[in-house]
Order: sequence, then C-alpha cells, then structure tokens
Amino acid sequence: MTTASYPALRMRRARASTWSRALHAENVLTPADLIWPLFVTEGRAVETPITTLPGVSRWSVDLIATRAKEAYALGIPCLALFPHTPVDLRSEDGGEALNPDNLMCRAIKAIKDAVPGIGVLTDVALDPYTSHGQDGIVDEEGYVLNDETMAVLVEQALVQAQAGADIIAPSDMMDGRVGAIRRELEESGHHNVQIMAYAAKYASAFYGPFRDAVGSRGILKGDKKSYQLDPANGEEALREVALDLAEGADSVMVKPGLPYLDICRRVKERFQVPVFAYQVSGEYAMLEAAVAAGAGDRDALVLETLMAFKRAGCSGVLTYHAVHAARLLGA
Ligand code: PBG
Repeated sequence: MTTASYPALRMRRARASTWSRALHAENVLTPADLIWPLFVTEGRAVETPITTLPGVSRWSVDLIATRAKEAYALGIPCLALFPHTPVDLRSEDGGEALNPDNLMCRAIKAIKDAVPGIGVLTDVALDPYTSHGQDGIVDEEGYVLNDETMAVLVEQALVQAQAGADIIAPSDMMDGRVGAIRRELEESGHHNVQIMAYAAKYASAFYGPFRDAVGSRGILKGDKKSYQLDPANGEEALREVALDLAEGADSVMVKPGLPYLDICRRVKERFQVPVFAYQVSGEYAMLEAAVAAGAGDRDALVLETLMAFKRAGCSGVLTYHAVHAARLLGA
C-alpha cells in the first residue's frame, strides 16, 4: 500500500544509482537457474550445426562430455539431452527408445563418467525414434494411442534411469504417464530419480527448429493437437499440472516459455511447487534473428528474457542460451 505521493514519494530515487538499483532488485538470475538442452548425434568428433538454430549444434557422445565439463565449470547445474536418431533406426513403434545402448543412454553414461556432479535430465517421448515423428504409438488414422504409448514410455524411463539419468522429463502429454513412471521407478529402486513433468506443454508453432535438430520435422505426419494443449487455454493447463503433481511429479514445466509466462505465474501461485519453463527452439531462433537483423543487443536480450522467467516465479529455465548467459553472469 502506497501512503505517500509525489513529491514526497519519488519512485526514481531508488533507481538513481547502480548500487541502489542492485539493492532494490527483487529477483536474481544466476547460472544455477539454467538447464542447457543438448542434441546428441552418432559418430566421433562430430559437430553438426543446425541451420534453423544458429549457434546450436548436434554433438557426438565424446564431444557431449566436453560440453558437460564446460557447463559444469560455468555453474550450470543440469543438462537436458535429446538424440538425433539415424533414419534407419527409426521405426513405426520407436523401439530404439528402449535399447539400453542407444545414443541417449551412451550420452548419459559419458556425461556421468566425465562430470559426475552435473545433473542429467532426459526426455521421455518417442518422437526422436518414430518413423512418423509422433510422440507415441499411432493407429491406422494416425491417432496417438494413450495407454499403448504409456506402457512404452514407462520402459523408456526405466532404461534412462538405469543409464544414470537424474531427472526423467516426460514430454509426451499422455494421460497417466507420470504415475506409471513413478511406480516403475520406485519398484526398480530408483527412489531418488526425479520426475519433471512437461505438464503444460502446448501444441506450439515454436518447436520447428527443435524438430530439425532431432530429425523429425521432415517426417512428421499431421500435428500434435490431440495431445498437446490448445494455446487458447489456461484453466486446462492448471488441471494438467494438478494431475501430474497428484501422480508424483517432483516439479513441473511450462512450455514454450515467454509466450506462456502467464501460465508460469498461475501455476506458481496456485500450487507453490518448483516450476520450470522451456524457452524453446523457436523462441531462441526468433531472438537470434532479431539480433542478426540489428534489432537488439544479444547479451541484453538474453538476460532480460531469462530474468522475466524468474520474475514470473520460475525456479529455472531450459534455454539454448544457457552457456552464453552463464558467461555473462560471470560464474
Ligand atoms: C517432443 C519435444 C519437443 C520439444 C521438446 N520435446 C517438440 C514437439 O513436441 O514436437 C521442443 C523443444 C524446443 O522446441 O526447443 N517430445
């Protein structure tokens, strides 16, 4: 409640100097707020730049370990891994997801060997492994079957946990999968493996460059609107979050990020649980395009957008700018 008014109250007094602005800052952004998504590819010493994500590459497993060391040295606490599965290993049912020696599992192990102190978050969904690019098992009409998919996702999560994943992040939006995964993790003794549910994941047009990165854009049949959320909806996102929490999610994610900051704030206020946002590939690409067009300064834009997530109530952000931001923040 404001008691005084101008001129007794001059809001600009607190903003008049650097020290005072620092003193009055309501939120802080540190490298510990960042999760760095990384794309893994086959081979040795391979770096493949992704044209729609300028500055982001796919790395072979040996180089992923180097990236992990770099991130750890900068104070980034966690990496998120996504595989680029060779076309010949993709199939109708995405069976490669269950191979304990797949690219994903080899990357998890390599990172854990090289940098035991960094967290590894793994994506649970079948789109990097299916020949049709959908996140699950489809019927003749291309509809993604919920319960059949869930059974595979549970196994996929177990394979990842056995390889050493610290956080299982189901991004598939099937109903009931968080509870099923939690039960399996408990039964198999992985009590401390966390679940970060992609609880409010929208059917967004901002995922294009990611689909290029994992090799699913060209092959994707149809859209994902029968399982991902309608961008028009907020209440529905809260119901999704409530369900995932009831099923045992340790933390929840909102995705995409900036266009859905209202959802981040509503989830935080309603549930008071750790909320993470995914500043997705299309957001990154949009920002880089603005920089390339001379519309703004990269460093300032990156830090401002990331701070916006903190202000909205997020515990952390998945961002392709993680390393750049961590350097700016001077870990
Ligand atoms: C799919 C998945 C997607 C992303 C993360 N996991 C794309 C999709 O749902 O099609 C997008 C991330 C990004 O755009 O950066 N399981």
